[in-house]
Amino acid sequence: MTQDEKKKAVAMAAVSYVTPDSIIGVGTGSTVNHFIDALASMKNDIQGAVSSSDASTARLRALGIEVFDLNSVSELDIYVDGADEITEHKQMIKGGGAALTREKIVAAVAKQFICIIDDTKQVPVLGKFPLPVEVIPMARSYVAREIVKLGGDPVYRQNVVTDNGNVILDVHNLTILEPSDLERKLNNIVGVVTNGLFAMRGADVVLVGTDNGVETVK
Ligand code: 5RP
Repeated sequence: MTQDEKKKAVAMAAVSYVTPDSIIGVGTGSTVNHFIDALASMKNDIQGAVSSSDASTARLRALGIEVFDLNSVSELDIYVDGADEITEHKQMIKGGGAALTREKIVAAVAKQFICIIDDTKQVPVLGKFPLPVEVIPMARSYVAREIVKLGGDPVYRQNVVTDNGNVILDVHNLTILEPSDLERKLNNIVGVVTNGLFAMRGADVVLVGTDNGVETVK
């Protein structure tokens, strides 16, 4: 199976977690794009979606799925999203698509985070994938200096402005042995909006696309 076929398989599998007449939290990325396409086939059975990015919003709307403002929704049963890296403890690095802040907000509201990945995303330790940090533009250099003090090697992601009007620093050369601790430390740097560690609130269910089919990790 190709990587894209595995992504499609887990996206299809995630549809079984959708309950009738509900509003679905929808993430961002190429795996989620397959999920959005699958959701379109049952759009008359759901109320709609809350989206984590302008890109996902556009795709949802183009397929005729209503997109709700999160402020008008009091609860979400599920949030479906991909990841850049994930451990056996279901802690993740996300934000390769620069949508980490809205992803974290929607994930916080949802009762269940259903993570959909191909098996290349599974790692023993987080950090090989550069950790994205969303930063208020005027704080970029200050935040970069503080991240160096924490042992990281921040690189400004050129020509990227997030949906919130901010910039991204990708932090290289980290071996993240205590993800929740680093998540807190990065959040405490003034000027950081969010970092891509989803450790304090990890996934609840992981659907992994493998050559042998979709494996479910609970
Ligand atoms: C976007 C994300 C994505 O979930 C992550 O980058 C995985 O993307 P893909 O499904 O394209 O591999 O966090 O900000």
